[in-house]
Amino acid sequence: MDRIRITGGRPLTGTIPISGAKNAALPLMIASLLTEETLTLENVPRLADVALLQRILGNHGVDITVPGKRPGDGQYQGQTLQISAARIVDTTAPYELVSRMRASFWVLAPLLARVGEARVSMPGGCAIGTRPVDLLLMAMERLGAEIDIEGGYVVARAPRGLRGAEIVFPKVTVGGTHTALMGAVLARGTTVIENAAQEPEIVDLAACLTKMGARITGAGTPRIVVEGVTRLSGARHTVLPDRIEAGTYAMAVAMTGGDVLLEGARPDLMQAALDVLVQAGAEVSANNAGIRVSRNGAWLEPVTVATAPFPGFPTDLQAQLMALMARAKGSSRITETIFENRFMHVQELVRLGAHIRLEGDTAIIDGVERLKGAPVMATDLRASVSLVIAGLAAEGETVVHRVYHLDRGFERLEQKLAACGAAIERLSG
Ligand code: UD1
Repeated sequence: MDRIRITGGRPLTGTIPISGAKNAALPLMIASLLTEETLTLENVPRLADVALLQRILGNHGVDITVPGKRPGDGQYQGQTLQISAARIVDTTAPYELVSRMRASFWVLAPLLARVGEARVSMPGGCAIGTRPVDLLLMAMERLGAEIDIEGGYVVARAPRGLRGAEIVFPKVTVGGTHTALMGAVLARGTTVIENAAQEPEIVDLAACLTKMGARITGAGTPRIVVEGVTRLSGARHTVLPDRIEAGTYAMAVAMTGGDVLLEGARPDLMQAALDVLVQAGAEVSANNAGIRVSRNGAWLEPVTVATAPFPGFPTDLQAQLMALMARAKGSSRITETIFENRFMHVQELVRLGAHIRLEGDTAIIDGVERLKGAPVMATDLRASVSLVIAGLAAEGETVVHRVYHLDRGFERLEQKLAACGAAIERLSG
């Protein structure tokens, strides 16, 4: 298994191109199931999760082609995918594939909307446990689907098609909102989604669906209204930039000091994170090219932050902020309100010398002057990149094991950081 070796202590200086957002690319690819025409997606990041979803869609009969480079294409452009679900040949999403990536469960909605049936494995491990899908199923039932659980699979049927309804989410859910949207666009009549997630990735999906002929208003607000249409057409859409990737590198620069342009990053997608960085002592400015983050040698200031649905501080940047606060001058408090047990990185950060203690859903971080390199273990996608951030500032050598977690969500991480002066390399095998 690959590892990443970092020798800490170097500032980051230069330009980091920001990739297309993983969390937008995945639902956009899934939306291809809604039409027999070709959906062309540009700026799709080259990530393990994207490759896995290609396989999952392939199993339903979806053809995906990746055209070669065109004259004038830059070296680091995301890929263009031409996705054609002309004929759905199989409505089963098998356990072996779905268990490896939760978001693949979202194929349930477009399969139901397009062909009236779907058989999708419950996501692995945490089925109706800590990361349940009850609200996604509730949304489909509201739209008229009949749902049974058989042998670990959700079997959903809507023989007479889906019909518009009012869907009120008792808690904000990104996946629930994506699936409600994808179900509603081809349903008969009007659907109103209340307490909808407002994440930029929802807005991006709604924008693409609208290009395909869907009638959607209110995406990006808590109330989305969808007028169902009978069919959708193909479209061409560019995936929006990854605010989590941009926020991660912004934290890395705040951690090491230096001056980096996050090329293509959009401040309107990540204001809460930028505000926290400024509070911590980083300098942040935005222009047409992207977001520039810098910090000179001054101490980091501690912060008090609670994660929240958009436009609040994202849970997907919580671990990275904790790494940053490990070296602040004083005591920080970070409260995780979205997911239980999303503190797996704490013990690993402690191995690097951080002083962190947990009180329920709050981590209290007493900043230390120095972190010291050590072997550490990546436990999930965002946690693992927090270890990279800490390693960039730790004295000596840090080796991050199990980096396949990183490959799920960060495109060319080592190359992007090395180009800005970090001593970081991948050790294969
Ligand atoms: C998405 C993101 C993930 C991010 C999360 C929150 C993708 C591919 N993943 O995950 O990176 O961390 O949003 O911003 O976009 N819940 C239920 N029942 C359900 C569904 C969710 O109780 O049926 C709960 C979850 O356990 C969690 C909360 O709702 O406590 C929010 O989860 P949700 O927004 O659905 O996360 P995902 O869509 O899985």
